[in-house]
Order: sequence, then structure tokens, then C-alpha cells
Amino acid sequence: MAESMKGLKRTCRCTEVSAADIGKEVTVMGWVQKRRNLGSLIFVDLRDRSGIIQLLFNEDEVGEEGYKKAATIRNEFVLAATGIVNKRGGEVNASLKTGDIELVVKSLRILSESETPPFPIEENSQTKDDLRLKYRYLDLRRPDLQKNIMLRSKVTMAIRQFLDEEGFLEIETPMLGKSTPEGARTYLVPSRVHQGSFYALPQSPQLYKQLLMCSGYDRYFQIARCFRDEDLRADRQPEFTQVDMELSFVDIDDVIDVNERLIARVFKEIIDIDVPLPIPRMTWQEAMDRFGSDKPDTRFGMELTDVTDTVKGCGFGVFTGAIDAGGSVRGINVKGQAGMPRKKIDALVDFAKGIGAKGLAYLCVNEDGTYKSSFAKFMTEDELRALVEKMKGEPGDLLLFAADKTDMVWTVLGGLRIEIAKNLDIIDKSKFNFLWVTEFPLLEYSEEEGRYVAMHHPFTMPMDEDLELIDSDPGAVRAKAYDIVLNGTELGGGSIRIHQNDVQEKMFEVLGFSKEDAYDRFGFLLNAFKYGVPPHAGLAYGLDRLVMLMVGADSIRDVIAFPKVKDASCLMTDAPNTVEASQLEELGIKIDIREGADE
Ligand code: AMO
Ligand code: AMP
Repeated sequence: MAESMKGLKRTCRCTEVSAADIGKEVTVMGWVQKRRNLGSLIFVDLRDRSGIIQLLFNEDEVGEEGYKKAATIRNEFVLAATGIVNKRGGEVNASLKTGDIELVVKSLRILSESETPPFPIEENSQTKDDLRLKYRYLDLRRPDLQKNIMLRSKVTMAIRQFLDEEGFLEIETPMLGKSTPEGARTYLVPSRVHQGSFYALPQSPQLYKQLLMCSGYDRYFQIARCFRDEDLRADRQPEFTQVDMELSFVDIDDVIDVNERLIARVFKEIIDIDVPLPIPRMTWQEAMDRFGSDKPDTRFGMELTDVTDTVKGCGFGVFTGAIDAGGSVRGINVKGQAGMPRKKIDALVDFAKGIGAKGLAYLCVNEDGTYKSSFAKFMTEDELRALVEKMKGEPGDLLLFAADKTDMVWTVLGGLRIEIAKNLDIIDKSKFNFLWVTEFPLLEYSEEEGRYVAMHHPFTMPMDEDLELIDSDPGAVRAKAYDIVLNGTELGGGSIRIHQNDVQEKMFEVLGFSKEDAYDRFGFLLNAFKYGVPPHAGLAYGLDRLVMLMVGADSIRDVIAFPKVKDASCLMTDAPNTVEASQLEELGIKIDIREGADE
């Protein structure tokens, strides 16, 4: 039977006692990790969010009734135990913070009983994800998840404190708003009062924070919940949290400066990592050319080499065909892997095809200087030698080549580079390699939509020197946009904003919006720009990703209390779910489910 808290006060958490407290009386409360009966003694490991303490029950101290009660204890019961801290009678348990002491219990209350949980509550759980997520409230009792969630809280506190010191104001912006385009699909919320109309959940607070700059708040931040209906991956959830900020009267270096100090402070304070400042910067072009990625993992080499000029006019049709079609041929040198078994090379070819390659050409430089290759027969000795030389190939190296449109070549080799580094386990996991990637293209052509779309968002300022290309060669215009990358993950992104109405209108025109369209969707911003707008810029971090990387987790699911699974559902609550017919009627909504709508 569950007992009450009446007259009882917790004096400390389970591990907030130590050998220094021997002889002291304390009251701890928590969950039973395990119980062992040893004849006249009962041992219980009691767990709370701080860790575990060993409780010792013997009849002399706890009395006959208390001892009987202790004998009924099972895993996950919630107990309150008052007793005297004692030096541990048995062996010291070095794996526990409280391993050299135990609590000799004088009085016990069972605050709550527990059924046998569906899986053991333990660190490094082997239980399947789905079962853990269905019982997420139990999963969240596990020490490794508790550590992540507690560290997350510390990170947000440190960020708040730093930004407050720097003169930022924390201001909330609406959840029920108007669609802001950030490239993903928007979650819509039907209006009851205005039937047929919808609110949009924010993909980010972008427009509001720019308006706050127009209103003179000059430095804003928000730990902001954002919603994006996009395909989920290990680092993407449909709702996630941004550390969002915006500053007035600044240029790129000002934004970078305050953010570098923010990062250095948080990493030092929370996980005692020194981040050397300034963080290196690399243009988007260089990142793509060297790493085949706009978020390069710089913890290892294996950089890309452009061999287009070397293989131009060679006998291998795959290479020359790609070049003739306006593409390029590039390669990576996997040092010392010439002996990679054929099966593994085939697996790399399949991986490349899986991410869009038409094929992958390989050449092994054997120890005796001969070659084993999928395309050597199409090339002369001289052509091969020149290619190997260009790749800095030495005996023992495995060279991999992709030939295609350059975008595809980057994707394929950039992806392979990571895949191979993971397979060969050559990434130093203790490193935190930060990088600013700058000068992103302003626009990218969307085949799907048949028009240019904003690479970051439509409010990003073009680089002054490229502005004249906006009509003649929109794809070549670079933006005053920057991403902060950590170990190959895009941690955050931002830009200098357009603050001139005419440039903003021009931008909408290039994106294919008519003036009416633009005013219809963003009139409030364009109008605000008529009344005095400061030059402004900002940035947003993915807080979930930041914490994931700080704790070394593989997925942001491990740092979010109640995450969703791949199909954007919640296994614990079963959201999303159907609703009462009357609720739909009230909203004026009729359901018309199409075949394959969920694909
Ligand atoms: P952006 O779209 O680059 O910029 O988003 C900023 C950061 O948010 C994180 N992020 C996500 N994290 C988890 N799940 C997702 N689905 C997800 N999508 C994005 C990433 C990303 O770098 N308004 C601009 C910022 C600005 O210009 O100030 C914006 O939202 O870490
Ligand atoms: P094929 O003549 O099509 O048999 O191709 C010869 C070799 O070139 C094979 O190893 C293919 O995997 C490879 N290959 C085919 N297309 C490409 C490409 N676009 N880029 C790089 N290698 C390719």
C-alpha cells in the first residue's frame, strides 16, 4: 500500500552523501534498482537522478515490521528511507559514487509500488527502441538518458546566462502564425473561427525576429520550438528546438564573434572542452571542392581531387562522357587500402549508387606498382600514370572515382568519404572540430519546382559584389550566409538579412513570386521595411544537435525527452490520432483520404 509523505522530508539525493557524512542521519527517496536478501540482512540499491545508494536493512535497526516491509520490496518500488550513513560493511563498489558507504535504515516507507517493468531499467539498454519509446517514461529513468536530459538543461541555462550578459533579450514569438518558408513542409492548424483558414506552426521564428529588429529590440534570442514536416533522420525531428538569435547594426564578423564566444563558453563550462578561437572559416566553394560537402567533417583527410583535366581526352568513355556533358571527374585516395577485398569494394560501389551515382570506378595501386582497376583496360599506361600521380597514389592506395554532373560527384564522393572513414574507424571521436562555412550560393535551382529557390531563406542578403548577376546569372550569386559545422553536422545557420525594401522585392521576383504574391504572403514584413529598418543579421542553432554532439549520442532522439519516430508518430501517446466527428464538424473539415497519401 502506498504510504504518504506526511511528516517526511527528503534531506538529500541518493549520492549527495559520502564517507564525510558517516554517522549522520539522512532521508533519501527514490526507485528500487535491485534487492538482495541475505538471510538476516536485506540490501536495496536505491536510485534517483543523482545515482545509487545502498540501503541496508537489519531487524535490529529497522524493527520487525520494517524488516517485513523491506522483504516485500521489488524493483521500481518508490521508497523513502531514513537511516544512518555507515562505512560499507562489504566490499567497496568502485563503480558507484557512494560505493564506500551504505545507509543503515531505521525507518522505511513504501511510497508507491510497481508492477514488473516491461524491460530492465539499466544503462546501455539492449531493449529494442520501439519498446523503450512506447514506455518512454521508464526509458527516461535510465541513467544514460537522465545524464543527457540533465546536461541539456545545463546547456540551455548556460546559453541563457551568456546571452543575457551580452545584452540579448529573451522574447517569445507565436506558435500560431503564418507560414514562414524554410524549405520544409509546414504543419497546419485549422481555425474554428475562420473556417477554411489555417495557422501555420513556425518552421523558425525568422520573420518575427526580423520584425523585432524593426521594433528596436536590437538583440533578441529565444529557445524556440520549431516544426518541420520533413523526412526524419538521426538528426531531424518534426519538432525540434532552436537557439535562435538576431542582432541589429552588425556585420558578419560581429555575429561570428559573439557566437564563437558563446560556443567556447558552453563547451568549457559544461563538458570542459577548450574550443580554440577563432574557429576556422571556409567558403562553400572550398568545402565542396575539398570535401564534397557543405558540412565537412574535418577530423580526417581523404579530400577530393579534381582529375577532370588529367583524364580529358583519355580512352575511358565514362569519364570523357561526363566531362563532355559539362560535368567533372573527381576522386578520393583511400590510403593503404589497395588490398580491400573485392566484396568490400563492391559494397562501396553499391553505397555510391544508393546515393545517386551511376557507378564508381576504382583503381588499386598494388605494392609492386601494377594496377588492379575497373577501367585500366580503357586507358593507356601514360594516362593511368598521370591519373595516379595527380591523385598522389602510392603503392598500397585505393583510388575511387566518380564521373557525373559536378553536384552529383560531390554528393557521391562526399558521402563515400564519410562511409569509408566510419568503416575503417579512422575518426578521432575525442575531437570537436568546428568550422564556419561561408559564402553559400544565394539560390539553387529546383528541378521539381522549375525555378530558383532560396538556399537559406528569401531574407538573406546577396554579396554586394555579386548583386549585379542577380538577373543574368542568378545561380552564381553568393549570399552573406554562414553555417556553423561541428564534426560534419550542420549545427546552425544564419545570414545577414536584406533590409532594403527594393532588394527584398527583387529577391521575391527572382524566386518567382509576383509582387501581389509577395505582399500577400509577406506584406507585414515588406510594409515594416517602409518604416525604418536597421541592418540586421542572425543565426539559429539546432539545440538538439548541439546536445547530441556534446554527449556523443548517435541520434537527437537521445537528447529529447519525448521524441517521435521515423514516421513522425509518437509510440507512447499514439499521436497523431483521429479525432471525433464533432471536432471536425466544428472546424468545417471533411476527411478525404487518398490512396498512398502516406508515401
Ligand atoms: P535553419 O533552417 O538552417 O535556419 O535551421 C537552423 C538549425 O536548426 C537545426 N534544424 C533541425 N534540428 C532538428 N530537426 C530538424 N528537423 C531541424 N531542422 C533544422 C539545424 C539547423 O542548422 N531561421 C533560420 C536561421 C537564421 O537565419 O537565423 C533557420 O531556421 O541545426
Ligand atoms: P562500364 O563500362 O559501364 O562497365 O563501367 C566501367 C567502370 O566504370 C565500372 O567500374 C563502373 O562502376 C564505373 N562507372 C560507371 N559509371 C560511372 C560514373 N558515372 N562514375 C564513375 N565510375 C563509373
